[in-house]
Amino acid sequence: MIRAGVMGWPVAHSLSPRLHGYWLDHHAIDGRYDALAVAPEGLAQQLASLAADGFAGVNLTVPHKQAALSLMASLSPAARAIGAVNTVVVGADGALAGDNTDAFGFMDNLRHGAPEWSAASGPASGPAIVIGAGGAARAVCHGLLAAGAPEVRLINRTAANAEALAAMDAERITIPAWSARAEALHEAALLVNTTSLGMVSQPALDLDLAALPPEALVNDIVYAPLETPLLAAAKRRGNPVVDGLGMLLHQARPGFAAWFGVMPEVTPALRAHVLADDTESGP
Ligand code: ATR
Repeated sequence: MIRAGVMGWPVAHSLSPRLHGYWLDHHAIDGRYDALAVAPEGLAQQLASLAADGFAGVNLTVPHKQAALSLMASLSPAARAIGAVNTVVVGADGALAGDNTDAFGFMDNLRHGAPEWSAASGPASGPAIVIGAGGAARAVCHGLLAAGAPEVRLINRTAANAEALAAMDAERITIPAWSARAEALHEAALLVNTTSLGMVSQPALDLDLAALPPEALVNDIVYAPLETPLLAAAKRRGNPVVDGLGMLLHQARPGFAAWFGVMPEVTPALRAHVLADDTESGP
C-alpha cells in the first residue's frame, strides 16, 4: 500500500483526495491519498516523519507552500524560481525533494484546453497579460517565461508587489499601471487573471476588454464558478477561453506519477467526477 496525501490548515475542503482517489481507482493501484490537517507549528515534524509513516510523498497547500522551502533536502528549479513547494517526494533514502508543479499545470491546461491556440501561436507569439502578483502569479509567470513569452505585462493593484515579482526576469516582465490596465491589453496573445476576483462571493475583475485582440486566449485561474465574469465577457466578444479547473487537475499529474508510478491523464470523466463534489475550495 503506497500512501500520499495533502497537508493543509484547514484541509477538509481540498479537492485533491477526490482527484487522486479517482486516478488510484482508475489505474487499480493499491494506494491511498488522504487529507492531512497539519497546523503550521506541526509542519516540520510531520514532514520529517513522512518516510517512517510509510508515505511516498505529499502535496502542500495553504499555508505551507513557502514554509516548506527550508525543510527540503533538495529543491527543483521550478520550486526555487517560484519560491514555493506544492509537491514533496520521499526518496529511497528518506530525503525530501521539493517541487512546484503549478507552472506545469498552468501550461498543460492551456495546451489541452486550447490546442489550436497553442499550435498556431501559443505563449511565444506575443505579450502575455498577467493580472495579480501573488503566489499563483509567480507560478504563471515562471511557466510563461519558460515557454518563451516575449513579454509578460504584470498588472497589479499594488505596484510594489508586481516589482518584487518582476525580479524573476527584469527584461521580459514589464509593469503597466493598474489604472492603465485596459490600454495594456493591446497586441496581447494571452490574458490570465491570477487574483481571486470573480470567485464566488468576490467582486468581479473590473477590466474593459475592448483593446484585447479577438484571437487572444483568456484564462482565469478561478474555477468556482467555472465561467467567471471575465471568461463570460471574453466569450461574448469571441475570444477563445480556458477555465481554471484544468490547472488544478494538471498540476496534480507529476506528483501522482512520482508516488504511484503512473502518469495519469486529465479526461472529461475526471472533470465530471471532481465537479460532482463541491468546488468551493482549492488544492
Ligand atoms: P495567491 O497567493 O493565491 O495568488 P495572494 O497572494 O493573496 O493570493 O494574491 C492575491 C492577488 O490578488 C494580489 O495580486 C492582490 O493584489 P495586491 O498585491 O494589490 O494585494 C490581488 N487582489 C486581491 N484583491 C484585489 C482587489 N480587490 N482588487 C485588485 N487586486 C486584488
